[in-house]
Amino acid sequence: MPLDPWSVSALDYPESASVSERLRFFLQFAVLAPSIYNVQPWQFRITEQAVELWLDRADSLPVVDPWNRQLILSCGAALTHLKLAVRYYRFTPHVQLVPSPDHPHLLARLRVGPGPGPTPEEDRLFRAIPRRRTYRLPFDDRPVSPSLETAIRDLAQREETILSVIPAGESREPLAELVAEGTKRHGNHSAFRWEYARWVRSNRNRRRDGLPGYAFGAGLALSYALPTLLRLFSWGTAQAQQDKQSALDAPLLLVLGTATDSPEAWLATGQTLATILLMTCAQGYHASYLNGPITIPELRTKLSEQIAAAEPNPMPCPQLLLRIGHGQTMRPTPRHRPREIQFIGLANRHVS
Ligand SMILES: Cc1cc2nc3c(=O)[nH]c(=O)nc-3n(C[C@H](O)[C@H](O)[C@H](O)COP(=O)(O)O)c2cc1C
Repeated sequence: MPLDPWSVSALDYPESASVSERLRFFLQFAVLAPSIYNVQPWQFRITEQAVELWLDRADSLPVVDPWNRQLILSCGAALTHLKLAVRYYRFTPHVQLVPSPDHPHLLARLRVGPGPGPTPEEDRLFRAIPRRRTYRLPFDDRPVSPSLETAIRDLAQREETILSVIPAGESREPLAELVAEGTKRHGNHSAFRWEYARWVRSNRNRRRDGLPGYAFGAGLALSYALPTLLRLFSWGTAQAQQDKQSALDAPLLLVLGTATDSPEAWLATGQTLATILLMTCAQGYHASYLNGPITIPELRTKLSEQIAAAEPNPMPCPQLLLRIGHGQTMRPTPRHRPREIQFIGLANRHVS
């Protein structure tokens, strides 16, 4: 297994190894998924013909994610990466969602059977996995091709996720105001800043999670200062204007939501998110998030009301707000190698 998970190569597939060894190989693609603050809140357990996906680091973001909603969304993204790897190497994934009161952190079990190989679209998405990045800088002026928007609409319909594409122009103003208000409240709230800054790292930091300064476009010197600056200064009001502008300028702006708020809905949305991000990357675009208003209940309700006023279908529970456009190549953020759980009686321990 390569030291840096991003160096995984499809050519290293251990074709003649046992099924469990091959499943272990697929996990290397799962951990390249995006996750809130790059927490990588997933663990895996491999049994003979199956992989279990467990929520790890539950309750680690009590301010921004008190119900583990975004952590579970992130696990859904990892599940999509895993399914694409399984399909690519000629297995069929059979996914069972297994929320149980005894094991609330066991999210899904994926069994594999023989498969025909990937469709051309799955092939494209799988190959995009090592190239996908979150892009936080301003996009350039080039528009997004209507074919990407159509593909995202078709996907959302297939996956039964509620999608709202926010048209450009003046009608975006109320949503952009909500984005600004979300950023302002977060950046002016010290508990949020302390929690956020704990995950922001210098460009030379050796930890394999969190957000390096370069992910925000910071050079080395600024990256060392960034955690302290983010923690100590109330930057909400200044950043709010930038985030509002990002919403107004986004070539494509969309909200992804669900009818209900439940771990099952979050896991499903996370899977749709990962597919959208890989489609975006495969077509040469970048994506990023403006989730602030969704993480503050009062603003989330307002967002849902705005969408209900503009769309034929209501969106009771907005889950993600994404902007998509053209940008430059970014460095990948660090990753842990897959963390596996091994059960020893009732206790469990991690093996990295
Ligand atoms: C559920 C979820 C929520 C996220 N929210 C934000 C966000 O509000 N702002 C942001 O800049 N990035 C957000 N991200 C992106 C992560 O920070 C990013 O995926 C992580 O740092 C790993 O980097 P990568 O996507 O470039 O691999 C989110 C990702 C996920 C999966």
